[in-house]
Amino acid sequence: MKNTVITFKEAKERSKKLTMLTSYDYSTAKLIDNAGINGILVGDSLGMVCLGYEDTLSVTMEDMIHHTKAVSRGAKNSLIVADMPFMSYQTSVYDAVVNAGRLIKEGRAQVVKLEGGAEVCDKIESIVKASIPVMGHLGLTPQSVNEFGGFKVQGRDEEAAKKLIEDALAVEKSGAFAVVLEGIPSKVAALVTEKLSIPTIGIGAGADCDGQILVYQDMLGMFSDFTPKFVKKYENLGERMNAAFKNYIDEVGNGIFPSEEHGFRVEEAVLAKLY
Ligand code: KIV
Ligand code: NA
Repeated sequence: MKNTVITFKEAKERSKKLTMLTSYDYSTAKLIDNAGINGILVGDSLGMVCLGYEDTLSVTMEDMIHHTKAVSRGAKNSLIVADMPFMSYQTSVYDAVVNAGRLIKEGRAQVVKLEGGAEVCDKIESIVKASIPVMGHLGLTPQSVNEFGGFKVQGRDEEAAKKLIEDALAVEKSGAFAVVLEGIPSKVAALVTEKLSIPTIGIGAGADCDGQILVYQDMLGMFSDFTPKFVKKYENLGERMNAAFKNYIDEVGNGIFPSEEHGFRVEEAVLAKLY
């Protein structure tokens, strides 16, 4: 069944957990979609896990559109969420609406996600007015890494936790249909989840969020640059891929691959004429 913003709304009303994973390409999107996920995020984590940057700040609109196109071709039933990259919405309401529109028109995402609280609510409102649903993103928002002085858990002291709750309520009021809570104490996330009528999607935000999201390379054990505490590795694909690559190198070197079954035949008569 096709997941939409209505699916997300109803899941919260029925206390049914929402599931999301990231994806950046056609074949992975197809696999995740086939497994029956609610939503696929084309995250700007693309910059780190696919493009090898140390943060998400260098990701461009062109990068996001390119990968969103691939994912949307691979996914049939999941809601496709595209991240708005750094500086594609912070600069003005106009930029925010134009760039959100590009992710929908060119990328074929169904909704967009952007980071921030009260300071981005005018952008959320205007994008929503253009009939583009918006997912918010609060807490350890990676585009603010330089302001935070690193990838650090947010909302731990009273002032920060209060600000987070206010921001969540503001994001909801501005028309967002859901909000990601990243890298905040579980109890604070539980409180935000209770106060909001829109679903919260957690990552490093405990079990009481209305849904969960992980970066797929993290949960498959394919990304070893660093692994945050909140990641559960459901597989060790990195090790298995490495073993397969080594096996291939050995087999080619030893003449084991390709064997006859992997080759194409030519008629003897044709072959005879070639000599
Ligand atoms: O870019 C991303 O992958 C994200 C998720 C971690 C929420 O924003
Ligand atoms: Na992101």
